[in-house]
This record gives sequence, structure tokens and C-alpha cells, in this order.
Amino acid sequence: MAEKSRRILVTSALPYANNSIHIGHLVEYIQTDIWVRFQRLVGNDCTYVCASDAHGTPVMLRARELGVEPEALVDRFRTEHQRDFAGFGVVFDNYHSTHSPENEALVTDIYARLRDKDLITRRTISQAYDAQAGMFLPDRFVRGICPRCKAEDQYGDSCEVCGSTYSPSELIDAKSVISGTAPVERESEHYFFRLGAFEESLQAYTQSGVVDAGVAKKLNEWFQAGLQDWDISRDSPYFGFRIPDTEDKYFYVWLDAPVGYLASLQDLAARTGGPGVEDFFAADSATELYHFIGKDIAYFHTLFWPAVLEGVGFRRPTGVFVHGFLTVNGEKMSKSRGSFIPAATFLEHLNPEYLRYYYACKLGPGLDDIDLNLEDFVNRNNSDLVGKFVNIASRCAGFISRKFDGQLADKLDDKALYKDFVAAGDSIAACYERREFGRAMREIMALADRANQYIDEHKPWAMAKDEAQLPRVQLVCTQGINLFRVLLGYLKPVLPSLADQAEAFLNAGTMNWTSSRQPLLKHQINQFQPLMTRVEEKSVAAMVAQVRESASPPAQPPATEADDQAQTISIEEFLRIDLRIGTVTKAETVDGADKLLRLSIDLGSEQRTILAGIRSAYSPADLEGRQVVVVANLAPRKMRFGVSEGMVLAAGSGGEEIFLLSPDQGAGPGMRVR
Ligand code: 2FM
Ligand code: ZN
Repeated sequence: MAEKSRRILVTSALPYANNSIHIGHLVEYIQTDIWVRFQRLVGNDCTYVCASDAHGTPVMLRARELGVEPEALVDRFRTEHQRDFAGFGVVFDNYHSTHSPENEALVTDIYARLRDKDLITRRTISQAYDAQAGMFLPDRFVRGICPRCKAEDQYGDSCEVCGSTYSPSELIDAKSVISGTAPVERESEHYFFRLGAFEESLQAYTQSGVVDAGVAKKLNEWFQAGLQDWDISRDSPYFGFRIPDTEDKYFYVWLDAPVGYLASLQDLAARTGGPGVEDFFAADSATELYHFIGKDIAYFHTLFWPAVLEGVGFRRPTGVFVHGFLTVNGEKMSKSRGSFIPAATFLEHLNPEYLRYYYACKLGPGLDDIDLNLEDFVNRNNSDLVGKFVNIASRCAGFISRKFDGQLADKLDDKALYKDFVAAGDSIAACYERREFGRAMREIMALADRANQYIDEHKPWAMAKDEAQLPRVQLVCTQGINLFRVLLGYLKPVLPSLADQAEAFLNAGTMNWTSSRQPLLKHQINQFQPLMTRVEEKSVAAMVAQVRESASPPAQPPATEADDQAQTISIEEFLRIDLRIGTVTKAETVDGADKLLRLSIDLGSEQRTILAGIRSAYSPADLEGRQVVVVANLAPRKMRFGVSEGMVLAAGSGGEEIFLLSPDQGAGPGMRVR
């Protein structure tokens, strides 16, 4: 193993601070945490930093929607994310924020250096603009009909049905998701990073082994398509850092997000006095730098980011480790199916180390998506961790405590077997290093099978009945516990909490990768406590049911004292409701429905049929000719008695106490209500 300790900086992608993390996010954080723990176990000096990704339009709008300042929203989610990560044993050396003074100083400096090297250009572009909301619209904030396959309600940049990409102006019947109005085209000057200037060096860099084969292939496609200048500015209103010497231009979130890796490191170094940005990012740094990311953000990390680093004269990443997405039971995660599981919900029902182990079994270095099959999840944990691994210790520990006062024998029963277990460490370490965690787990479980086989063959429970055989019982159980200990060392990166408990039981201090080269002999162990219980199917079912139940109301941010404020809606949200004046042209009872009236309503440009639950307070004759207020953009609802195409507004508590709202005289059908 590592003769000379390596100095390594590791990052996971910075989660956006506008939503809770879920089990899909955890694939990456668990993968990274396992790798980091492995590096430390083999003696490398490994620093792991992360931060909240604070900026951008979605964070700004979410804050508005909740009626809080974006800074407050970021703080809230930053705290929640840290809590959830810790719950899964994901431990960072530092968890900072991109909305920090360190990040602002760094990104401003990086920008100035790029500008001074003539790597920034400016030009005017035309973009979708929401005149009602008074803001430019990111592509994802425009929706409409796909210009190619005509699928409805597609994003402004790509169609989820036919997969084609286009610009928002090509969408048919485009609407801003903020106000629901049709966007207009408006011009504005933007700042661009000249990515094309790095084409050759990026080609050489990305082919030098920094990414795995699947990503290299994707990169070739990107190079063939040509590298375009990268738009790094956004217009006000925007939550981000203002570009120096401008009034209302901000750095695009994706420029300052990866700089957040440096900001987090710098903040850490300032507090600990440890190595900082200069040590890790100088062009000639002898350290290693690895980014763990998902495949959706590979372009940013393999092209933009290395080019920016090169542009400012910094080192580039040693490796960019790209993983696939998570599917659950073979399908995309879904709230209604109960598979969109927030991290916190998982923790309410299940031991997080089940998930760490399951992901480890599934993870490799490639881009393939990984599937969490919930039935397999139960079986795999129960069979491998409980049935094989922990079982080794529980089968042997009782005899050692009861018959030998916790004392292990002074020699091994089968030295060759023990040697085999220790020798397997090199291959398992190589698997960890290459992120072939699935293979590492298979090798470890094959050893666990051999350990159990050894115990089966020697049957300590049978020998223990015969006083004369007791010394053999001690030898066999000492062998078993030592085999368990070797495997514990190998599983420690995956199961840190179980490892803590098992180390307490073994009473021999904290293990590293090579501790088990020396067996524990003539050594006092502690009372064995069950290290892991079986995964209960009913716990999984309860978790899925909880997710399903919470599927209907929108996800709420973590509760804080400011929640009263959070109950408000933004003006944009309110403006999405299309309220119109309508005239009831006909009202009739509905056969078989004693609460409903069927209303024909003239909305000026169209006629609507609305089924209204107002029969207990109104008879049809009261209504004909009367003006009402209609929610005109409510999606049509199919009811037992027909389709209702909107809603009429009324006050009151129901029954006879229903009071329809009507405008003052002068209002006419179709008039908008504000
Ligand atoms: O895709 C995302 O979730 C981004 N918040 C990741 C940013 S990673 C880095 F560059 F900061
Ligand atoms: Zn399409």
C-alpha cells in the first residue's frame, strides 16, 4: 500500500440550496465519502470539501415564493443538508457556501485574470423576457409545445418526449412559467468566456486519463460539435455576485459554483491553518484533485472548469469521476410511486448503513445508472451484512465471553486461511482506488462465505458440549473473530458506524487498512452487542407509504421560526391565477347530484361549462344573467357528472352559507380580475 502518503483534495457537487436532498443525491455523496474514508484508511492525507450552491434563478424564485430573503433560504437548506449528510455518515472537512465572502473574492479575482488575458468578450444577445415579471427567462422557465414532435408542455431547451434540443423562441405557444404570459424577445449585452481558445489543450487534457472511457466518448462528441463561447453573465434580477464595473450584470451561477470548491478549502484553511488554495491549486502543485459529479454536469467539469483553471494559471483536476443516475425498481424516482425518497424520510425508517452498503454493491467507475430495487435492497443487506458478515462475530463472540472470560486464544487455528484473508487486501484496495466498489464488496462477501464455512466445519457449538474440547472452541472462535476483524477493516469505508461499534467490541483501538495484518491473540474482547439488525420489509413499506402520502402537497422547506412568513405566496404566483368576469347564461340542476349546479358561463371570448357545488344555497333561477368571478385557467376536471372547465368564486362555509362573488356594475364578461 501507499508507501508515501499522497495529498488529495476531493469534492462532491455542491447541492443547490433550494430543495431537500434525496436518495438520488446520496449516490454521489456516499460514493465520495467511501472513497475518502478509504484514502484515509490507507494513510493518505485526504481533504473533502463541499458547500451549498447558493446562486441562480431557481433559488431566487423559491425564496420569493416563500417570502424570505435568498440568504435565509440558503442558510436553511445549508443546515438541513448538513444534518442529512451527517445522518448518512457523509463527513466533510468543510461545508461552506458559494454565497460567501471567500467565494466572491475568488470569483472576482478569477474573472479579472481572465479578462486581463483577453479571455472575456461581450456581445448583445436576444433572449426570452417575461414582461410581466420584469425578467429574462432561463430556458427552463419557458414551456410550450415541442416544435419537432408537438408534445405539449415541454421545456424551452429540450423535449422530454422526442429528445430534440432547440431554443425557447422555437417553442410553439410558449409561456413563461413565472407569469403564464407569452415571453417576448429582448436584447441585452452578455459576457462570454472564450472556451474555444482552449480547444487543443482541453482535447489533450481530457484524453490523458482524467475521465473514464464513457465520458471520453461523450467528450469526443462535444469536440466534434465545436466549443462555443460560454455565456457567464446574467441580467438583474438575479441572486449572485455582481460583475465588477457593471450596474446590473451578475456572474452566472455556474461560473461561481465550482469556484466554491476553492472557497470552501480557503475557509477551512483559515480555520485550521492547513493547506489552502495556493497548496492545492498552484500550477505546479504536487497534490491530487478529484471531483465526483453526476453525468448531467460533466460538460461543466470537464470543459468549462478546466479551461477556467488553465486560464487563470491554476492546476486542473487530476480526475473527474462521473457517475450515473439512480433509478428505483427500474424506473425514474417518482413521488406518486413512493420512490422519490428524501434523505430525512429514509433516516426516519431505516439504518443509513443499509443504503451505504447497497450503493457500494452497485457502484462502479462507469456512467451507468444504478438501480435501487427495494426487494433486492432488503435481501442483499439481510443476506450479506446480517447473514454473512455480522454472523461471523455473533457465532463466535458468545463462546469467548461465556467460556473464556472474553479472552482470545494465543494462536490461530488456521494460519493459512488468515493469510489468505490478509492477502486479499491488495486486490480489494485496488478496487476501492478505482471506484470498483461493487467488485470490492463481492470479494469481501466471498471471504465472508469462507469464514462461515470454516465455522460450519468446526462447529464450536457442538464441541462446547464436551469439556475436553473447550480449548479447540477457543481456537476456532479466535480464528472466527480474527477473520471478522480483517473483513471489518475492508468494510470500514462503507460502514463507519458499524465499524465504530465493532471496534469497541474488539477492544483493540481504531483500525486502519493494515491493522489486521497482526491478528488479535491473547487479547481481551468486550461483550458482543448485536451490530446490525435485519432490514424489515415493513419499514421499507412504511417509508414508501409516507412518501406517497406526502406526494400531493408541495415540498416544504425545513420549518423555522420564520415560517409564518413562509406561508405567503409571491406576486408572480398570484399572477398565474387567471381570474375573469363571467356571465351565467344558463343554470340547471344535475341529475343524481344534489349538491351541484351546471352553469354555462360566457367569458367574453368563449363559453364554459362549470359544475359548481352551490345548489344548497342557490336555485338555477337565481343565477341566470348574474355575473360571477371565474378561475379561468384551472385545468379542466373530469367529474362523475361531466367535465368542469373552471371554478366560480364564493365566500362562506358551505350549506346555505354560500355567497357568490360578483363585480360592481360596469364589469363585463372576460374582464380580467386583479
Ligand atoms: O447540478 C447541481 O446540482 C449543481 N448545484 C452542482 C454544482 S457543482 C459545482 F460546480 F459547484
Ligand atoms: Zn418533442
